[in-house]
Amino acid sequence: MNAPFAATTLEKIRAELAAKPTELFIDGKFVPALSGKTFDVEDPSTAQIFAHSAAGDAADIDLAVKAARRAFEGPWGKMTPAQRARLMIKLADLIERDGDIIALTESLDNGMPYMMARMGMIPGAAEQLRYNAGWATKLHGETITPSWPGEWQTLTFREAIGVVGAIVPWNVPFMMTVAKLAPILAAGCTVVLKPAEQTPLSAVHLGKLIAEAGFPDGTVNFVTGFGETAGAAIVDHPGIDKVTFTGSTEVGKLIVRNSTGNLKRVSLELGGKSPCVIFADADLEKAIPGAAASIFGNAGQVCAAGSRLFVHEKVYDQVVEGIQNRARTIKVGSGLLPTTEMGPVVSAEQLERVLGYIETGAGEGATVGVGGGRLEGEGYNSGYFVKPTVLTGTVSGMRVVEEEIFGPVLCAMRFGDDDLDTIGAKANATQYGLSSNIWTRDLVNALGLAKRIKAGLVRINGGPGLDPALPFGGFKQSGWGRENGKSGAESYTELKSVTIALA
Ligand code: NAI
Ligand code: MG
Repeated sequence: MNAPFAATTLEKIRAELAAKPTELFIDGKFVPALSGKTFDVEDPSTAQIFAHSAAGDAADIDLAVKAARRAFEGPWGKMTPAQRARLMIKLADLIERDGDIIALTESLDNGMPYMMARMGMIPGAAEQLRYNAGWATKLHGETITPSWPGEWQTLTFREAIGVVGAIVPWNVPFMMTVAKLAPILAAGCTVVLKPAEQTPLSAVHLGKLIAEAGFPDGTVNFVTGFGETAGAAIVDHPGIDKVTFTGSTEVGKLIVRNSTGNLKRVSLELGGKSPCVIFADADLEKAIPGAAASIFGNAGQVCAAGSRLFVHEKVYDQVVEGIQNRARTIKVGSGLLPTTEMGPVVSAEQLERVLGYIETGAGEGATVGVGGGRLEGEGYNSGYFVKPTVLTGTVSGMRVVEEEIFGPVLCAMRFGDDDLDTIGAKANATQYGLSSNIWTRDLVNALGLAKRIKAGLVRINGGPGLDPALPFGGFKQSGWGRENGKSGAESYTELKSVTIALA
């Protein structure tokens, strides 16, 4: 099979990245970090350093926040919603124009299959901007009939919250970056965004497109750097009105504690340990590949991954065998190979973490049904490749069942003719509550379980990826607030009530 991209595009990207470190995008210009420091950027399929990026820290964040404030109080804040929407739509078009470059950069940096980036993340990012551009002109207050006696009128203003700090993880970097920006821009806010240190590169290209589209300087600022320095400085900065974070529950809690200085608003999209419940009457031809895709897609590095499988005992053997067969045949490899279905995990740290969990599971008494370790051999030895893995004989209480692994590791469990309360309790036996999957043809089981599950998303018989129109976020320790949909755009606004005495 031929590569689905031009070799010259890849060579050009590599040459540009090798020539000089990428820079911060502050106030509409590309600049090095004030400290002059840079950090290594690694290709997870070879463990080779192929780029360097500016290591921004508190001083750079401060410059970016000041630029964002000037844009908010100046040119961006003064634009009409329709003008903002037009710029957002223009940016969506530019992302599609440069889809090959961005997808290749993303695949090199994160390891994800090129086709997944090109066919999934690029159109998904463009749609986020177009969808949210629609909200720019439709976020407004209300006139309210007062309850108090007398002659007066009340109304609400819905106003942009101000300068937002956004902290993004490495698992779907480009798509997540754009999904953060789109509602922030629709609401009329400005932003300082920090990409993850593992995957800084696609945001740099996005900075070029933001400048080209004609956004006023300072509207969007990208500061690449580490969590403990640049990320912490965002959380601490008194000039930031809201922090939006996607990442680990551990850092989410730290952000809550460290954001109290100015009581900035905080929204959190954290981890998950999402259940996938397959009833005996399910259409197994769809449920088996659906359950496999939910845990092996993006090497399991997905917050909504279906990592706990519950199957009715009548079809348990058939389902688990089907998923294991899929695990055996998934083509694992470099994201740049046209045949690759699953890439490496993002880093040596993530590899250790995932392998550590597999070992822990075996130590706790789980059986490795398929996979269960690092992929070795030609083409694999230097990269961070994990075998698609199914653990059977897992029970609640095991760490592999309770903790987020964030790798291609599924824990399979069975249930009998239990009532929905019992099945719901099993599905809910986790600190998380981000997503869930139900497979059945029975309406009562489908909706009855959907009502019992404590999670922000229930997918019945499959479903699309995350939809920009559909609110997404966590119950319990999976987070605070909802992204996407009207609620996502409104979360970057403050409501102000106004009263007018008419007599
Ligand atoms: P992390 O939560 O440390 O990193 C996510 C982002 O937070 C990165 O941009 C990082 O630079 C930043 N960050 C780290 N420490 C910070 C701090 N003190 N203040 C401000 N920002 C900070 O996640 P990590 O360590 O890369 O992955 C560990 C585990 O977290 C994964 O194995 C997975 O279980 C979970 N995770 C969940 C994600 C999700 O989408 N829900 C995404 C990434 C990780
Ligand atoms: Mg971390």
